[in-house]
Amino acid sequence: MTSTIPKHVAIIMDGNGRWGKRRGLTRSEGHYAGSQTMEKIIDASAELGIEILTLYAFSTENWGRPKDEVNYLMSLPIKFFKQKLPEFMKRNIKIYISGDIENLPKGTRDAVTKAMEETKDNTGLIVNFALNYSSRREILQAICHVIREAEEKQLDIDCLDEAVFEQYLYTKNLPDPDLVIRTGGEKRVSNFLLWQSSMAELCFVDVLFPDFTKEMLKKAVFDVNSQEEMKLNEYVG
Ligand code: FPP
Repeated sequence: MTSTIPKHVAIIMDGNGRWGKRRGLTRSEGHYAGSQTMEKIIDASAELGIEILTLYAFSTENWGRPKDEVNYLMSLPIKFFKQKLPEFMKRNIKIYISGDIENLPKGTRDAVTKAMEETKDNTGLIVNFALNYSSRREILQAICHVIREAEEKQLDIDCLDEAVFEQYLYTKNLPDPDLVIRTGGEKRVSNFLLWQSSMAELCFVDVLFPDFTKEMLKKAVFDVNSQEEMKLNEYVG
């Protein structure tokens, strides 16, 4: 059974704002509910034996949202890591960040830098937060980096192949995702892991992220290998 578990699962956690609005709450309250769900999904991923979980937490496009919502989203990692880091250390969970960390507000930047630093020697589940992330920008920055190194004769351009190019991406030490899940009902990839997900299975779930459950994750994970579908009843409640 373990062999059928995708090694790397990536999730576009969409639908928090709508979830809040539908309940007469604010969009930020929807994000809070999303962060609670995110914690459950991290636990479920560790239980399932997923090795890497990438979570789309904030895109560069998200800066265009109302200021109070942006401020709230930037405060979430501060509270989250303050509360969860000791537990992540106990559970051997390693934190990665993919994105432009330098241009985050200082408090957020310090919190994520500390989380990466403290967990760097952990060997269990890797939770990779895509934060201030744009896949196009990531690829463009990688190209600029490659050109610069070629000009400085640190890189022989004739040796540039896919494996070498990947070393210039945020995800340089991670295998490509096998499965990309998007909640919230929309069927698009929204500037997320465009290079890395070229061979990934895509799973679109018509459920707002705060309502996404461990059982839904299990179903998506086991559906990757269709031969395993028959076994689903064992796992889906
Ligand atoms: C998209 O939903 C979701 C986000 C922009 C943020 C997702 C963030 C979390 C779930 C928590 C992150 C927490 C930490 C600690 C990193 P949306 O609001 O765009 O949904 P909508 O389509 O309903 O508007």
